[in-house]
Amino acid sequence: MTTSSSPSSATSAQAVKDPLRLIDVDYVRFYVGNAKQAAYFYAQAFGFEIEQISDLTTGQREAATYLLTQGNIRFLLTTGLDKNHEAQKEVALYGDGIKDIAFTVDDSVAAYEQAIRNGAESAYEPKEVTDERGTVLSSGVKSFGRVVHSFVSRSGEYSLEKVKQRGIPFLPTFELTPDLAINEYNRQNPTGLFYVDHCVGNVEMGKMDTWVKWYEDVLGFKLFKHFDDKDISTEYSALMSKVMDSGRELIKIPINEPAEGKRKSQIEEYLDWHNNTPGIQHLALLTKDELNTVGQLRRRGVDFLEIPESYYDIVWDRVGEIKENVDKVKDLRVLVDRDDKGYLLQIFTKPLQDRPTLFFEIICRRGSESFGKGNFKALFESLELEQDRRGNL
Ligand code: FE2
Repeated sequence: MTTSSSPSSATSAQAVKDPLRLIDVDYVRFYVGNAKQAAYFYAQAFGFEIEQISDLTTGQREAATYLLTQGNIRFLLTTGLDKNHEAQKEVALYGDGIKDIAFTVDDSVAAYEQAIRNGAESAYEPKEVTDERGTVLSSGVKSFGRVVHSFVSRSGEYSLEKVKQRGIPFLPTFELTPDLAINEYNRQNPTGLFYVDHCVGNVEMGKMDTWVKWYEDVLGFKLFKHFDDKDISTEYSALMSKVMDSGRELIKIPINEPAEGKRKSQIEEYLDWHNNTPGIQHLALLTKDELNTVGQLRRRGVDFLEIPESYYDIVWDRVGEIKENVDKVKDLRVLVDRDDKGYLLQIFTKPLQDRPTLFFEIICRRGSESFGKGNFKALFESLELEQDRRGNL
């Protein structure tokens, strides 16, 4: 295997029409305090397969990384094995959380160079890893706060299509896990998650438009929707949000900032516990069958935000008929909303780690392209109850 920091591969020399054509979400990388235990948590609670490992046993002496997969979702959970490793330093600052939303591109070098020309700041320069199976090129640019977007281009057996078929290392240095009982259990009891629908960033007050412009200028995203503090407020707290769309139905990235309210907003609470540094607030994972998925996750012990019974006294007047069993929707405490294109079902976990930072949303779209605006008020009142319990309101 060879590693070089100034690649000159055939792919980088090819002229690519749009260097920032984002093909897929290559992976979402988490920095965590203990990747071995985090892998088991995400596998047990959310049904991910612990598919591959890169650690001391595969010759990696700086960090341990687990590849977890489900549908078209790929998580890398990384722990530094040395106090100077970046993952260790960031875990000390932020706790467990998301570092990198990586995109598959045609040519990592061309994508990186174009992003830099578009005004991005480098996170790391292109590096190439080649072995007998093929080549993986990676580079990265800095987004808001601690977040990075890597550009990954793959050739030979490392192409994303081949990697998705399983049985091939995701990256050089990875090895497939041996048969794990948890993987067998998950195959028999699938939770049905298959795609990262959107990923939401929290930034400081007054900084939302800066990052909206960044996504427009650097990555060519378009503004999809805009919510102001009148849409997203309760008696006590408020936030504003703009949704950025990658196009090609790949991913949407809403950017939140706090707005003035009587008490501390959920965005401020996040920033307080995230070393006053912007970062990823939640990942929304898509399912085609919300009730089955949420039933499965509840049986596995996933902690969801509590929604009051009264929510269901009025929701059906607002939403109208849906194809799911409404009693089951209520039993599972799933939220429902409708827009002009259809409806959606959604539910939010409590924070996934001790700090009130990252959480997941489980979403099922039945035509709706929005984000559950009709649920904001009910949801934020529920969130405020949780903040109050944590002494952070
Ligand atoms: Fe969301």
